[in-house]
Amino acid sequence: MKYKIPRGTQDILPEQSKKWQYIEKKAHDLCKRYNYQEIRTPVFEQTELFARGVGDTTDIVQKEMYTFEDRGGRSLTLRPEGTASAVRSFVENKMHGWANQPVKLYYIGPMFRYERPQSGRMRQFVQLGVEAMGSDDPAIDAEVIGLAMDFYRELGLTNLKLVINSLGDKESRTNHRNALIEHFKPRITEFCSDCQARLEKNPLRILDCKVDRDHELMESAPSILDYLNDDSKAYFAKVQKFLHDMNIAFEVDATLVRGLDYYNNTAFEIMIDGEGFGAITTLTGGGRYNGLVEEIGGPTTPGIGFALSLERLLMALETQGVVLPIEQGLDAYLVTMGDEAKNAAPKLLHKLRGEGLTVDGDYMDKKMKGQMKTADRQNADFVLILGEEELSKNSVMIKTMETGHQELVPMDEVVDRIKK
Ligand code: HAM
Repeated sequence: MKYKIPRGTQDILPEQSKKWQYIEKKAHDLCKRYNYQEIRTPVFEQTELFARGVGDTTDIVQKEMYTFEDRGGRSLTLRPEGTASAVRSFVENKMHGWANQPVKLYYIGPMFRYERPQSGRMRQFVQLGVEAMGSDDPAIDAEVIGLAMDFYRELGLTNLKLVINSLGDKESRTNHRNALIEHFKPRITEFCSDCQARLEKNPLRILDCKVDRDHELMESAPSILDYLNDDSKAYFAKVQKFLHDMNIAFEVDATLVRGLDYYNNTAFEIMIDGEGFGAITTLTGGGRYNGLVEEIGGPTTPGIGFALSLERLLMALETQGVVLPIEQGLDAYLVTMGDEAKNAAPKLLHKLRGEGLTVDGDYMDKKMKGQMKTADRQNADFVLILGEEELSKNSVMIKTMETGHQELVPMDEVVDRIKK
Protein backbone atom coordinates (compact mmCIF):
# COMPACT_ATOMS: atom_id res chain seq x y z
CA MET A 1 0.00 0.00 0.00
CA LYS A 2 1.36 3.36 -1.04
CA TYR A 3 0.15 6.30 0.96
CA LYS A 4 -0.58 9.57 -0.76
CA ILE A 5 -1.35 13.03 0.45
CA PRO A 6 -5.10 13.84 0.31
CA ARG A 7 -6.26 15.72 -2.79
CA GLY A 8 -6.17 19.48 -2.44
CA THR A 9 -3.63 19.49 0.39
CA GLN A 10 0.11 19.99 0.35
CA ASP A 11 3.25 19.27 2.30
CA ILE A 12 5.15 22.43 2.98
CA LEU A 13 8.76 21.31 2.77
CA PRO A 14 11.62 23.11 4.55
CA GLU A 15 12.62 25.41 1.65
CA GLN A 16 9.02 26.57 1.37
CA SER A 17 8.51 26.70 5.14
CA LYS A 18 11.07 29.46 5.41
CA LYS A 19 8.85 31.62 3.21
CA TRP A 20 5.82 30.75 5.30
CA GLN A 21 7.61 31.71 8.49
CA TYR A 22 8.74 34.98 6.95
CA ILE A 23 5.22 35.85 5.81
CA GLU A 24 3.64 34.81 9.10
CA LYS A 25 6.08 36.96 11.01
CA LYS A 26 5.26 39.89 8.72
CA ALA A 27 1.58 39.33 9.42
CA HIS A 28 2.10 39.26 13.20
CA ASP A 29 4.21 42.42 13.05
CA LEU A 30 1.78 44.30 10.86
CA CYS A 31 -1.27 43.34 12.92
CA LYS A 32 0.58 44.48 16.02
CA ARG A 33 1.24 47.87 14.43
CA TYR A 34 -2.47 48.20 13.70
CA ASN A 35 -3.23 47.04 17.25
CA TYR A 36 -5.04 43.85 16.28
CA GLN A 37 -4.64 40.98 18.72
CA GLU A 38 -4.29 37.33 17.88
CA ILE A 39 -7.08 34.89 18.58
CA ARG A 40 -6.78 31.11 18.19
CA THR A 41 -9.96 29.11 17.90
CA PRO A 42 -10.47 25.37 17.30
CA VAL A 43 -10.27 24.01 13.77
CA PHE A 44 -13.68 22.42 14.24
CA GLU A 45 -16.92 23.90 15.49
CA GLN A 46 -20.56 22.89 15.76
CA THR A 47 -21.89 22.52 12.21
CA GLU A 48 -24.80 24.78 13.02
CA LEU A 49 -22.45 27.73 13.59
CA PHE A 50 -21.42 27.78 9.94
CA ALA A 51 -24.88 26.98 8.62
CA ARG A 52 -26.15 30.04 10.49
CA GLY A 53 -23.10 32.25 10.20
CA VAL A 54 -21.92 31.69 6.66
CA GLY A 55 -25.46 31.08 5.43
CA ASP A 56 -27.20 27.93 4.26
CA THR A 57 -27.66 29.13 0.68
CA THR A 58 -23.93 29.57 0.13
CA ASP A 59 -21.76 27.14 -1.83
CA ILE A 60 -19.59 26.75 1.23
CA VAL A 61 -22.38 25.40 3.40
CA GLN A 62 -24.21 23.50 0.68
CA LYS A 63 -21.29 21.78 -1.01
CA GLU A 64 -17.97 22.36 0.61
CA MET A 65 -18.01 21.56 4.29
CA TYR A 66 -16.09 18.74 5.92
CA THR A 67 -18.80 17.66 8.31
CA PHE A 68 -18.60 14.64 10.57
CA GLU A 69 -20.26 13.14 13.57
CA ASP A 70 -18.08 12.63 16.62
CA ARG A 71 -18.35 9.63 18.90
CA GLY A 72 -20.86 11.46 21.02
CA GLY A 73 -23.18 11.93 18.05
CA ARG A 74 -22.54 15.67 17.66
CA SER A 75 -22.33 17.17 14.20
CA LEU A 76 -19.02 19.01 13.84
CA THR A 77 -17.42 20.74 10.88
CA LEU A 78 -13.85 21.61 10.02
CA ARG A 79 -13.97 25.38 9.79
CA PRO A 80 -14.34 26.59 6.18
CA GLU A 81 -13.51 30.17 7.22
CA GLY A 82 -12.64 32.12 10.34
CA THR A 83 -15.25 34.83 10.76
CA ALA A 84 -17.99 32.65 12.23
CA SER A 85 -15.53 31.21 14.76
CA ALA A 86 -14.24 34.65 15.73
CA VAL A 87 -17.81 35.87 16.21
CA ARG A 88 -18.71 32.75 18.21
CA SER A 89 -15.76 33.41 20.48
CA PHE A 90 -16.64 37.11 20.72
CA VAL A 91 -20.11 36.18 21.94
CA GLU A 92 -19.07 33.31 24.17
CA ASN A 93 -16.35 35.34 25.88
CA LYS A 94 -18.55 38.43 26.15
CA MET A 95 -16.01 40.57 24.36
CA HIS A 96 -18.64 43.26 23.87
CA GLY A 97 -18.04 43.97 27.57
CA TRP A 98 -14.30 44.47 27.19
CA ALA A 99 -13.04 47.92 28.07
CA ASN A 100 -11.31 48.48 24.74
CA GLN A 101 -13.75 48.76 21.86
CA PRO A 102 -13.82 47.93 19.04
CA VAL A 103 -12.36 44.50 19.67
CA LYS A 104 -9.71 44.05 17.00
CA LEU A 105 -8.73 40.44 16.35
CA TYR A 106 -6.68 38.51 13.84
CA TYR A 107 -5.94 34.87 13.18
CA ILE A 108 -3.69 32.74 11.01
CA GLY A 109 -4.75 29.16 10.58
CA PRO A 110 -5.91 26.33 8.33
CA MET A 111 -9.39 26.35 6.78
CA PHE A 112 -11.05 23.45 4.98
CA ARG A 113 -13.32 23.47 1.96
CA TYR A 114 -14.25 20.52 -0.21
CA GLU A 115 -13.64 22.33 -3.48
CA ARG A 116 -12.44 21.15 -6.86
CA PRO A 117 -8.71 21.60 -6.40
CA GLN A 118 -6.79 23.68 -8.91
CA SER A 119 -3.97 26.12 -8.82
CA GLY A 120 -4.73 28.54 -6.00
CA ARG A 121 -7.69 26.53 -4.78
CA MET A 122 -6.95 24.00 -2.08
CA ARG A 123 -9.04 21.84 0.23
CA GLN A 124 -6.87 22.87 3.14
CA PHE A 125 -5.50 26.38 3.01
CA VAL A 126 -4.26 28.92 5.52
CA GLN A 127 -6.03 32.21 6.01
CA LEU A 128 -4.79 35.35 7.62
CA GLY A 129 -7.98 37.01 8.78
CA VAL A 130 -8.73 40.23 10.58
CA GLU A 131 -11.99 41.05 12.38
CA ALA A 132 -12.93 44.34 14.07
CA MET A 133 -16.11 44.13 16.11
CA GLY A 134 -17.98 46.84 17.95
CA SER A 135 -17.67 49.88 15.71
CA ASP A 136 -19.60 51.05 12.68
CA ASP A 137 -17.32 53.97 12.00
CA PRO A 138 -16.47 53.95 8.27
CA ALA A 139 -12.90 54.79 9.31
CA ILE A 140 -12.48 51.25 10.54
CA ASP A 141 -13.56 49.91 7.15
CA ALA A 142 -10.76 51.98 5.63
CA GLU A 143 -8.36 50.78 8.33
CA VAL A 144 -9.09 47.12 7.64
CA ILE A 145 -8.67 47.60 3.89
CA GLY A 146 -5.51 49.60 4.51
CA LEU A 147 -4.07 46.79 6.59
CA ALA A 148 -4.59 44.26 3.80
CA MET A 149 -3.10 46.58 1.20
CA ASP A 150 -0.12 47.37 3.44
CA PHE A 151 0.54 43.69 3.94
CA TYR A 152 0.87 43.07 0.21
CA ARG A 153 2.76 46.27 -0.40
CA GLU A 154 5.31 45.60 2.30
CA LEU A 155 5.92 42.12 0.93
CA GLY A 156 6.66 43.66 -2.45
CA LEU A 157 3.58 42.74 -4.49
CA THR A 158 2.52 45.07 -7.26
CA ASN A 159 -0.32 45.24 -9.80
CA LEU A 160 -3.00 44.87 -7.19
CA LYS A 161 -6.53 46.03 -7.78
CA LEU A 162 -8.80 46.91 -4.91
CA VAL A 163 -12.47 46.55 -5.78
CA ILE A 164 -15.13 47.81 -3.42
CA ASN A 165 -18.88 47.86 -3.33
CA SER A 166 -21.67 48.58 -0.92
CA LEU A 167 -24.35 45.99 -0.28
CA GLY A 168 -26.29 48.53 1.75
CA ASP A 169 -27.99 48.31 5.11
CA LYS A 170 -31.02 46.15 5.87
CA GLU A 171 -33.55 48.49 4.28
CA SER A 172 -31.48 49.00 1.12
CA ARG A 173 -30.88 45.29 0.84
CA THR A 174 -34.56 44.44 1.20
CA ASN A 175 -35.51 46.88 -1.54
CA HIS A 176 -32.78 45.57 -3.80
CA ARG A 177 -33.76 42.00 -3.02
CA ASN A 178 -37.33 42.63 -4.08
CA ALA A 179 -36.15 44.25 -7.28
CA LEU A 180 -33.94 41.26 -8.03
CA ILE A 181 -36.78 38.81 -7.49
CA GLU A 182 -38.97 40.83 -9.83
CA HIS A 183 -36.19 40.91 -12.39
CA PHE A 184 -35.35 37.22 -12.44
CA LYS A 185 -38.64 35.56 -11.56
CA PRO A 186 -40.34 35.63 -14.98
CA ARG A 187 -37.42 33.78 -16.59
CA ILE A 188 -35.98 31.87 -13.63
CA THR A 189 -36.51 28.51 -15.39
CA GLU A 190 -33.71 29.49 -17.79
CA PHE A 191 -31.29 29.43 -14.86
CA CYS A 192 -29.52 26.57 -13.12
CA SER A 193 -31.19 24.70 -10.28
CA ASP A 194 -29.02 26.45 -7.70
CA CYS A 195 -30.20 29.84 -8.94
CA GLN A 196 -33.81 28.68 -8.92
CA ALA A 197 -33.41 27.71 -5.31
CA ARG A 198 -31.72 31.03 -4.55
CA LEU A 199 -34.47 33.18 -6.05
CA GLU A 200 -36.60 33.45 -2.94
CA LYS A 201 -33.99 32.61 -0.34
CA ASN A 202 -31.15 34.84 -1.45
CA PRO A 203 -31.45 36.33 -4.93
CA LEU A 204 -28.23 38.32 -4.52
CA ARG A 205 -26.35 35.05 -4.84
CA ILE A 206 -27.69 34.63 -8.38
CA LEU A 207 -25.41 37.48 -9.42
CA ASP A 208 -22.45 35.42 -8.28
CA CYS A 209 -23.45 32.28 -10.21
CA LYS A 210 -20.66 30.85 -12.32
CA VAL A 211 -22.96 28.69 -14.47
CA ASP A 212 -25.28 31.44 -15.60
CA ARG A 213 -22.87 34.32 -15.57
CA ASP A 214 -23.40 35.07 -19.29
CA HIS A 215 -27.19 35.08 -19.20
CA GLU A 216 -28.53 38.36 -20.57
CA LEU A 217 -30.53 39.06 -17.43
CA MET A 218 -27.29 39.26 -15.47
CA GLU A 219 -26.12 42.44 -17.14
CA SER A 220 -29.42 44.18 -16.83
CA ALA A 221 -30.00 43.10 -13.21
CA PRO A 222 -30.81 45.95 -10.83
CA SER A 223 -27.67 47.37 -9.28
CA ILE A 224 -27.46 47.59 -5.52
CA LEU A 225 -25.97 51.05 -5.85
CA ASP A 226 -29.32 52.30 -7.19
CA TYR A 227 -31.06 50.98 -4.10
CA LEU A 228 -28.85 52.36 -1.37
CA ASN A 229 -30.79 54.58 1.02
CA ASP A 230 -29.32 57.85 2.22
CA ASP A 231 -27.57 56.34 5.24
CA SER A 232 -25.94 53.62 3.20
CA LYS A 233 -24.92 56.09 0.50
CA ALA A 234 -23.36 58.42 3.05
CA TYR A 235 -21.56 55.52 4.69
CA PHE A 236 -20.14 54.30 1.41
CA ALA A 237 -19.06 57.82 0.48
CA LYS A 238 -17.18 58.14 3.77
CA VAL A 239 -15.33 54.87 3.24
CA GLN A 240 -14.29 56.08 -0.20
CA LYS A 241 -13.20 59.44 1.13
CA PHE A 242 -10.98 57.80 3.75
CA LEU A 243 -9.44 55.50 1.14
CA HIS A 244 -8.72 58.56 -1.00
CA ASP A 245 -7.17 60.31 1.98
CA MET A 246 -4.99 57.28 2.62
CA ASN A 247 -3.89 57.27 -1.01
CA ILE A 248 -5.32 53.83 -1.65
CA ALA A 249 -6.55 53.45 -5.21
CA PHE A 250 -9.77 51.49 -5.76
CA GLU A 251 -12.53 50.74 -8.21
CA VAL A 252 -16.22 50.58 -7.39
CA ASP A 253 -17.84 47.48 -8.85
CA ALA A 254 -21.58 47.19 -8.25
CA THR A 255 -21.53 43.50 -9.21
CA LEU A 256 -19.22 42.51 -6.37
CA VAL A 257 -21.47 40.52 -4.04
CA ARG A 258 -19.12 38.03 -2.25
CA GLY A 259 -19.87 34.38 -1.67
CA LEU A 260 -20.89 34.49 1.97
CA ASP A 261 -24.22 35.61 3.33
CA TYR A 262 -23.26 37.82 6.20
CA TYR A 263 -22.19 40.95 4.37
CA ASN A 264 -23.80 44.37 4.35
CA ASN A 265 -22.56 47.84 3.48
CA THR A 266 -18.88 47.60 2.59
CA ALA A 267 -17.69 44.61 0.57
CA PHE A 268 -14.28 44.39 -1.02
CA GLU A 269 -11.83 42.17 -2.82
CA ILE A 270 -8.20 42.57 -3.72
CA MET A 271 -7.30 41.07 -7.07
CA ILE A 272 -4.05 40.60 -8.85
CA ASP A 273 -3.58 41.72 -12.41
CA GLY A 274 -1.17 40.40 -14.91
CA GLU A 275 -0.11 37.32 -16.76
CA GLY A 276 0.69 33.93 -15.39
CA PHE A 277 -1.69 33.88 -12.50
CA GLY A 278 -4.32 31.59 -13.98
CA ALA A 279 -8.05 31.84 -13.50
CA ILE A 280 -8.05 32.66 -9.83
CA THR A 281 -7.14 36.24 -9.30
CA THR A 282 -8.79 37.16 -6.01
CA LEU A 283 -6.24 37.32 -3.24
CA THR A 284 -8.41 38.77 -0.48
CA GLY A 285 -12.08 39.04 0.33
CA GLY A 286 -13.82 40.90 3.09
CA GLY A 287 -16.55 43.20 4.18
CA ARG A 288 -18.88 44.40 6.86
CA TYR A 289 -21.19 42.02 8.76
CA ASN A 290 -23.31 44.12 11.06
CA GLY A 291 -25.94 41.45 11.73
CA LEU A 292 -23.68 38.48 12.36
CA VAL A 293 -22.95 38.84 16.07
CA GLU A 294 -26.67 39.02 16.75
CA GLU A 295 -27.31 36.06 14.44
CA ILE A 296 -24.83 34.02 16.50
CA GLY A 297 -26.60 34.95 19.74
CA GLY A 298 -24.79 38.10 20.88
CA PRO A 299 -25.93 41.67 21.30
CA THR A 300 -26.35 43.87 18.22
CA THR A 301 -22.76 44.57 17.26
CA PRO A 302 -21.31 45.81 13.99
CA GLY A 303 -18.26 44.10 12.51
CA ILE A 304 -15.92 44.16 9.57
CA GLY A 305 -13.01 42.02 8.43
CA PHE A 306 -11.22 40.25 5.64
CA ALA A 307 -9.31 37.08 4.97
CA LEU A 308 -6.58 36.18 2.55
CA SER A 309 -4.88 32.87 1.96
CA LEU A 310 -1.16 32.51 2.31
CA GLU A 311 -1.17 29.99 -0.56
CA ARG A 312 -2.47 32.57 -3.02
CA LEU A 313 -0.14 35.17 -1.62
CA LEU A 314 2.86 32.90 -2.16
CA MET A 315 1.69 32.16 -5.69
CA ALA A 316 1.44 35.86 -6.37
CA LEU A 317 4.90 36.52 -4.99
CA GLU A 318 6.29 33.74 -7.13
CA THR A 319 4.54 34.94 -10.28
CA GLN A 320 5.95 38.39 -9.79
CA GLY A 321 9.41 37.06 -9.03
CA VAL A 322 9.53 38.67 -5.61
CA VAL A 323 12.47 37.33 -3.63
CA LEU A 324 11.84 37.39 0.10
CA PRO A 325 14.80 38.44 2.24
CA ILE A 326 15.07 35.13 4.02
CA GLU A 327 18.08 34.43 6.16
CA GLN A 328 19.80 31.38 4.83
CA GLY A 329 22.57 29.30 6.20
CA LEU A 330 24.52 28.75 9.37
CA ASP A 331 26.67 31.03 11.45
CA ALA A 332 29.18 28.22 11.72
CA TYR A 333 29.81 24.57 10.90
CA LEU A 334 32.05 22.48 13.10
CA VAL A 335 34.54 20.26 11.29
CA THR A 336 36.29 17.66 13.41
CA MET A 337 39.38 15.57 12.74
CA GLY A 338 40.05 12.46 14.79
CA ASP A 339 38.18 10.71 17.57
CA GLU A 340 39.17 13.06 20.32
CA ALA A 341 37.83 16.08 18.46
CA LYS A 342 34.67 14.18 17.55
CA ASN A 343 34.14 13.43 21.23
CA ALA A 344 34.57 17.08 22.09
CA ALA A 345 32.06 18.20 19.45
CA PRO A 346 28.76 17.82 21.36
CA LYS A 347 29.98 20.03 24.19
CA LEU A 348 31.19 22.76 21.85
CA LEU A 349 28.08 22.71 19.66
CA HIS A 350 25.86 22.83 22.72
CA LYS A 351 27.75 25.82 24.07
CA LEU A 352 27.59 27.74 20.79
CA ARG A 353 23.87 27.11 20.40
CA GLY A 354 23.36 28.19 23.98
CA GLU A 355 25.00 31.46 23.05
CA GLY A 356 22.41 32.00 20.33
CA LEU A 357 24.45 30.90 17.33
CA THR A 358 23.09 28.79 14.49
CA VAL A 359 25.56 25.95 14.19
CA ASP A 360 25.77 22.36 13.08
CA GLY A 361 28.33 19.58 12.84
CA ASP A 362 28.90 16.20 11.30
CA TYR A 363 26.93 13.13 12.31
CA MET A 364 27.72 11.04 9.24
CA ASP A 365 31.33 10.19 10.04
CA LYS A 366 32.53 12.12 7.03
CA LYS A 367 36.15 12.82 6.23
CA MET A 368 37.38 16.36 6.62
CA LYS A 369 36.88 17.11 2.92
CA GLY A 370 33.30 15.90 3.05
CA GLN A 371 32.64 17.99 6.15
CA MET A 372 34.05 21.09 4.44
CA LYS A 373 31.76 20.47 1.49
CA THR A 374 28.76 20.22 3.79
CA ALA A 375 29.73 23.48 5.48
CA ASP A 376 29.88 25.12 2.08
CA ARG A 377 26.57 23.66 0.93
CA GLN A 378 24.87 24.81 4.13
CA ASN A 379 26.14 28.34 3.61
CA ALA A 380 28.10 28.54 6.83
CA ASP A 381 29.74 31.91 7.44
CA PHE A 382 32.52 30.26 9.42
CA VAL A 383 34.00 26.81 9.65
CA LEU A 384 35.37 25.81 13.03
CA ILE A 385 38.11 23.25 12.66
CA LEU A 386 38.86 21.08 15.64
CA GLY A 387 41.68 18.52 15.54
CA GLU A 388 44.21 17.07 17.93
CA GLU A 389 46.45 20.08 17.67
CA GLU A 390 43.69 22.60 18.33
CA LEU A 391 42.47 20.52 21.27
CA SER A 392 45.93 20.38 22.80
CA LYS A 393 45.98 24.19 22.72
CA ASN A 394 42.37 24.44 23.91
CA SER A 395 41.66 26.43 20.75
CA VAL A 396 39.70 26.23 17.52
CA MET A 397 40.80 27.12 14.01
CA ILE A 398 38.24 29.54 12.59
CA LYS A 399 37.99 29.82 8.84
CA THR A 400 36.06 32.76 7.42
CA MET A 401 34.36 31.29 4.38
CA GLU A 402 34.07 34.53 2.46
CA THR A 403 37.78 35.35 2.54
CA GLY A 404 39.38 31.98 3.26
CA HIS A 405 41.23 33.60 6.17
CA GLN A 406 42.12 31.20 9.01
CA GLU A 407 42.98 32.00 12.57
CA LEU A 408 43.58 29.97 15.73
CA VAL A 409 41.28 31.29 18.46
CA PRO A 410 41.23 30.27 22.15
CA MET A 411 38.15 28.20 22.98
CA ASP A 412 36.57 30.81 25.24
CA GLU A 413 36.84 33.54 22.61
CA VAL A 414 35.14 31.59 19.82
CA VAL A 415 31.65 32.93 20.48
CA ASP A 416 32.78 36.55 20.53
CA ARG A 417 34.81 36.12 17.40
CA ILE A 418 31.87 34.65 15.46
CA LYS A 419 29.42 37.22 16.75
CA LYS A 420 31.75 40.01 15.68
P1 HAM B 1 -13.64 34.18 1.27
O1 HAM B 1 -13.79 35.11 0.12
O2 HAM B 1 -14.42 32.93 1.23
O3 HAM B 1 -13.98 35.01 2.57
O4 HAM B 1 -12.12 33.81 1.42
C1 HAM B 1 -11.16 34.80 1.60
C2 HAM B 1 -9.86 34.42 0.91
O5 HAM B 1 -9.46 33.12 1.29
C3 HAM B 1 -9.93 34.36 -0.60
O6 HAM B 1 -9.80 35.63 -1.18
C4 HAM B 1 -8.73 33.49 -0.91
O7 HAM B 1 -7.52 34.23 -0.80
C5 HAM B 1 -8.75 32.52 0.24
N1 HAM B 1 -9.38 31.26 -0.15
C6 HAM B 1 -10.69 30.93 -0.11
N2 HAM B 1 -10.88 29.68 -0.52
C7 HAM B 1 -9.66 29.19 -0.83
C8 HAM B 1 -9.17 27.93 -1.31
N3 HAM B 1 -10.00 26.92 -1.52
N4 HAM B 1 -7.85 27.79 -1.52
C9 HAM B 1 -7.00 28.81 -1.29
N5 HAM B 1 -7.39 30.01 -0.83
C10 HAM B 1 -8.70 30.20 -0.61
C11 HAM B 1 -13.91 34.53 3.84
O8 HAM B 1 -13.43 33.47 4.14
C12 HAM B 1 -14.41 35.50 4.88
N6 HAM B 1 -14.37 34.84 6.20
C13 HAM B 1 -13.58 36.76 4.86
C14 HAM B 1 -14.02 37.75 5.88
C15 HAM B 1 -13.48 37.95 7.10
N7 HAM B 1 -15.03 38.58 5.75
C16 HAM B 1 -15.14 39.30 6.86
N8 HAM B 1 -14.21 38.92 7.69
